Amino acid sequence: MSDPRGATAVVIGAGGGIGGAFVAALAADRRFATVHALSRTGGDGGETVSAGTIDVTDEESIAAAADRIGGPLDLVLITTGMLHERGRMPERALRELDGARLARQFEVNTIGPALCLKHFAPLLARDRRSVIAALSARVGSIGDNRSGGWYGYRASKAALNMIVRSAALEIGRRWPQAVCVALHPGTVDTGLSHPFQARVPPERLFPPDRAARQLLSVIEGLTPAATGRIFAWDGEEIQP
Ligand SMILES: NC(=O)c1ccc[n+]([C@@H]2O[C@H](COP(=O)([O-])OP(=O)(O)OC[C@H]3O[C@@H](n4cnc5c(N)ncnc54)[C@H](OP(=O)(O)O)[C@@H]3O)[C@@H](O)[C@H]2O)c1
Repeated sequence: MSDPRGATAVVIGAGGGIGGAFVAALAADRRFATVHALSRTGGDGGETVSAGTIDVTDEESIAAAADRIGGPLDLVLITTGMLHERGRMPERALRELDGARLARQFEVNTIGPALCLKHFAPLLARDRRSVIAALSARVGSIGDNRSGGWYGYRASKAALNMIVRSAALEIGRRWPQAVCVALHPGTVDTGLSHPFQARVPPERLFPPDRAARQLLSVIEGLTPAATGRIFAWDGEEIQP
């Protein structure tokens, strides 16, 4: 992110709690000459912020956004994701599994980010370090799953972690300075976590601006040796 000409960032999911906080943090960071803020609704631009539309469940819209923006890109953050929708909470037991809901979780949490990797990775800068990161979740760790439940969310994030790993290996062959990772933001005070915040100690419920700052600091410290791995907000590596 030290390009003297000014770096370019893309935030996919800028309408979300964490995505919006990333845009604000990057807009305040003078190293970034342009921050592309993409969301389903588009939203407002700013001095260095260029707003645009994207729907990660529609590949044409992802391809069109990537074409419009072009490269070279220094930082791509995929911050879309879904835990509950239209009042339907994550499954607590096998009897609650529903094929259409499972497919929807995979559509938003796995396939959407995978298609963003497909269309945005080719735009990464070649001549310097670049980072492409997708927001995953600690509950997507198979090794760390000790309480079960949340079948669709856990499985779709575990699958996302695998997509990131495969993409990292492929990207690394052509962009040796690129870093492709999955990130866990901690529990962040957004609409996504809102129904589940009651038992979270206040000091572990991060405001979105703090979550964005913490993750940007983790990103800053990543070298190409980190590619393909999963990191939490405090820099700790999470097992797949
Ligand atoms: N909050 C937490 O405690 C927490 C914990 C662990 C992991 N995460 C992960 O962090 C990421 C961001 O979450 P958040 O807390 O910022 O949640 P949020 O405020 O609910 O934002 C969700 C984002 O995902 C996009 N999105 C949601 N449903 C979608 C759909 N059906 N189709 C297409 N896009 C959709 C939204 O797009 P628009 O921009 O178009 O509105 C928005 O950008 C997610 O991947 C989440 O799994 C969050």
